[in-house]
Amino acid sequence: MDLALKRQLEQLADFGNTNDAAVGKSGTRMLNITPDTGEFLSVLVRATVARRVLEIGTSNAYSTLWLADAARAIGGAVTTIERAPDKVAMARENIATAGLDGVITQVEGDAGAWLAQAPDASADLVFLDSARSLYLAWWPDLRRVLRAGGLLVVDNASSHAHEMADFVAAVKDDAAFSTSLVPVGKGEFLAVKT
Ligand SMILES: C[S@@+](CC[C@H](N)C(=O)[O-])C[C@H]1O[C@@H](n2cnc3c(N)ncnc32)[C@H](O)[C@@H]1O
Repeated sequence: MDLALKRQLEQLADFGNTNDAAVGKSGTRMLNITPDTGEFLSVLVRATVARRVLEIGTSNAYSTLWLADAARAIGGAVTTIERAPDKVAMARENIATAGLDGVITQVEGDAGAWLAQAPDASADLVFLDSARSLYLAWWPDLRRVLRAGGLLVVDNASSHAHEMADFVAAVKDDAAFSTSLVPVGKGEFLAVKT
């Protein structure tokens, strides 16, 4: 990773922490992944040579930059979905500053509607960090969109385990998936489609 992007990610991490502590639950929180989760995502993208990365839940693009830097290194690209217009605008600015606009496609809208029209087997890696109460409803499309051998990574699997218990149970019960809960950051639930 080049020094400018490293600095930008450090600044964004500081901004996210400061902002989220200041605004409380009623304000616009960035809800970013932790820096060690960013490192983990970067390793996963590179190790699995995931050239088609789909992110659900952009926020201000902190996680997107980690994913896109890794995807660019292996000739890949990231599509990222966010429904909040103010966050889409912040993300656009951060992506341009990073010079990663060439490898990131931003989609503004509802992830459920977008997933419903996405082609089968069109993603090598899906990073899910969005509306946890909807994950179970999204599961049939997530499952369909992920290619055989593809990897699903879900944030907050430890910090908010109770909010996604039904979803995690459904994935674990699916014979086509092998899963693991990884104690990085807020807990990353991994599921590979066999
Ligand atoms: C935890 S934040 C994402 C943080 C981001 N991945 C990061 O680490 O920088 C979750 C985001 O999902 C967005 N979101 C929630 N429900 C959504 C939906 N149905 N469709 C698209 N985006 C949604 C929220 O607006 C919020 O910005």
